[in-house]
Amino acid sequence: MASKVALITGGASGMGLEVARSLSSEGWRLSILDMNQESGEKVAKSLDAKFYKVNVTNYDELADAFEATWQEHGRLDFVFANAGIAGDESFYSHPELDSKGRPKKPNLLVTAINIDGVISTCWLAQHYFRMNKKPLGGVIVITASCGGIYPVPISPIYGASKHAMVGFMRSIAPRMIKDSIRVNCICPGTVRTGLLSKEGWETYPNEAFTPIEKVVEVVNLFVEDETLYGKAAEIIKNKHYWQDAPPYSDEWMALTMKACD
Ligand SMILES: NC(=O)c1ccc[n+]([C@@H]2O[C@H](COP(=O)([O-])OP(=O)(O)OC[C@H]3O[C@@H](n4cnc5c(N)ncnc54)[C@H](O)[C@@H]3O)[C@@H](O)[C@H]2O)c1
Repeated sequence: MASKVALITGGASGMGLEVARSLSSEGWRLSILDMNQESGEKVAKSLDAKFYKVNVTNYDELADAFEATWQEHGRLDFVFANAGIAGDESFYSHPELDSKGRPKKPNLLVTAINIDGVISTCWLAQHYFRMNKKPLGGVIVITASCGGIYPVPISPIYGASKHAMVGFMRSIAPRMIKDSIRVNCICPGTVRTGLLSKEGWETYPNEAFTPIEKVVEVVNLFVEDETLYGKAAEIIKNKHYWQDAPPYSDEWMALTMKACD
């Protein structure tokens, strides 16, 4: 059988890179998408993969990379919607004022990358998965965060972006399964990657870090286990826990939400 094909955003470092390495060792063909050209090219060379310099907030660049992947392989099996940033601006700092004395617009790069970029990635994945002949469909794993389950007062825009992705995954999964597309998300605790600086990581408890291998294990589980869709996996240290949507408070809410199915 021909090799399976994966497309990974943010594949030049951290979790994206480790998932790429794992899939490559299993014989997958890979498209690595990242803004970081230098690392991306190095990674692609080492994994006999294709690198595409893509900023996920640029829809044309993203769509070109999907199309090029399809043209090269004629199928697509797995999309890891993983590119993301933490952002380093404090939401609470006193804002600079513009010439009219109003607070300047907040920096919303985090939502552009972590929300808009992931939505565009899933939008494109759906299109190409529907064109697969045999096997039909495909798998999407979205990288959310523990900050998509629990409040993040220190970084509320990041928290909002990751809550959005848990909600987005839960919303699209029951629909996309009808096209044999399984969508799940991962919600890791702290993992030592390039997301933060060395000093940034020092503000988190050393004993609670999650090994990157555990993240790769859960992503592989989502890729392989055909029964899994609509699941949010909280990952902490060497464990993972399913975080299901809260139950409806009463029959009226159940009825209301049924209308949104
Ligand atoms: N490291 C953690 O503790 C942790 C915990 C929970 C969730 N996450 C999430 O994991 C994902 C991966 O991050 P990581 O921890 O591996 O960090 P990382 O910085 O090592 O990797 C992120 C990669 O995404 C790329 N990237 C960033 N913005 C991009 C853009 N606009 N377009 C294309 N590529 C872009 C970066 O160049 C980098 O290669 C992110 O979504 C992050 O929010 C990380």
